[in-house]
Amino acid sequence: MLPPVLAIDGPSGAGKGTVSRLVAKKLGWHYLDSGSIYRALAIAVLQKAIDVADEAGIVEIARTMELAFACADGLAVTLDGNDITHQLSLETTGNTASMIAVLPAVRAALLEKQHSFRRMPGLVADGRDMGTVVFPDAPHKIFLTASAEKRAERRYKQLIEKGVDANLSRLLLDIQERDRRDSERAAAPLLMAADAVFLDTSEMPVESVIAEVLRLINK
Ligand code: C5P
Repeated sequence: MLPPVLAIDGPSGAGKGTVSRLVAKKLGWHYLDSGSIYRALAIAVLQKAIDVADEAGIVEIARTMELAFACADGLAVTLDGNDITHQLSLETTGNTASMIAVLPAVRAALLEKQHSFRRMPGLVADGRDMGTVVFPDAPHKIFLTASAEKRAERRYKQLIEKGVDANLSRLLLDIQERDRRDSERAAAPLLMAADAVFLDTSEMPVESVIAEVLRLINK
């Protein structure tokens, strides 16, 4: 029997990362942050100065890059032996990730890596297409979202807490642009799976979201 998967999909900044990590911890399941795979690839593309439209060149990097994830106090990621943890959350990394994520061959090249996270006793998979493309047979699927304004506000707070300079209206524009790109692309667009449960977290504190997700799984 394949290990069970809880697929949590939704737009940037809906709280998927925090919720998925905490739910995985509570269940004792593995955790896949699929966005960090796209982000790591974006870092490699930026480092090698490859054009974001060079599909074949990016596929080659996707196939050969050595990615390692370690979960200690948070997620630590190394790319070809170098620690890239701090670069992962930069806005340029996220924007480049969303540009290369439109390329179908790039998405296909990253499938195997994502499937390798499915191990006993189970996996919480966080992304855009976990329930539709990567793990369509997942027994549990949730589509987590929040208004663009709320998501920009949350991102702004996170950045300020980290001591990173941020501009709220610029963040809102970036989020709207990234939503548009993620939803309108032909390859695996951000769509709610037909069998997913919809959860709007705009007015929900994170503890309530986690309680609701656990309730849905135990149903
Ligand atoms: O979730 P995160 O913001 O880290 O993802 C960065 C970008 O990677 C997203 O904007 C999206 O374009 C892309 N992505 C994707 N499919 C996933 C995860 C992320 O296309 N499963």
